[in-house]
Amino acid sequence: MMHVDRYEKRWMIATGITLAVFVLAIAVTAVVGGIELPGVSGRIAPSTVESAPPFANPGVRQLGPGRYEVFIRAQTWAFFPNELHVPAGSSVTFHLTSPDVLHGFYVEGTNLHMMVLPGHVSTLTATFGKPGSHQFWCDEYCGLGHQLMSGRLVVDPGH
Ligand code: CUA
Repeated sequence: MMHVDRYEKRWMIATGITLAVFVLAIAVTAVVGGIELPGVSGRIAPSTVESAPPFANPGVRQLGPGRYEVFIRAQTWAFFPNELHVPAGSSVTFHLTSPDVLHGFYVEGTNLHMMVLPGHVSTLTATFGKPGSHQFWCDEYCGLGHQLMSGRLVVDPGH
């Protein structure tokens, strides 16, 4: 049998435990924190983003009782639209794309965070329980006006 030094063995065990704790931490965060990976719901030719629906007329649309979808164009250097209103308690599916370069979409106070790539439609769904205002930002460096890219998501009191 291979001889393993006593101290080396202890360090191997400690390393194994540390790895197990990390894996457990990821598993717990995924379940308790409700981690949802952004999906690519579709592909779109970047040159048509500004001229073809649905991104040519971005905004909030109602799908059914308490269900909404939002189309947002992220482009150098603004979000269209840059102010959104949804009622509290509603489930909102966000669809974002870009006609030019890589952008980000991060909504303060939520776990909504995704990359926005030209040619891809990034999609995430979130439920907003309480009325309030959430600032959102582009958090991927996208050029000279990157710091100007922001907007506001307003959760209005439900009916
Ligand atoms: Cu868009 Cu940074």
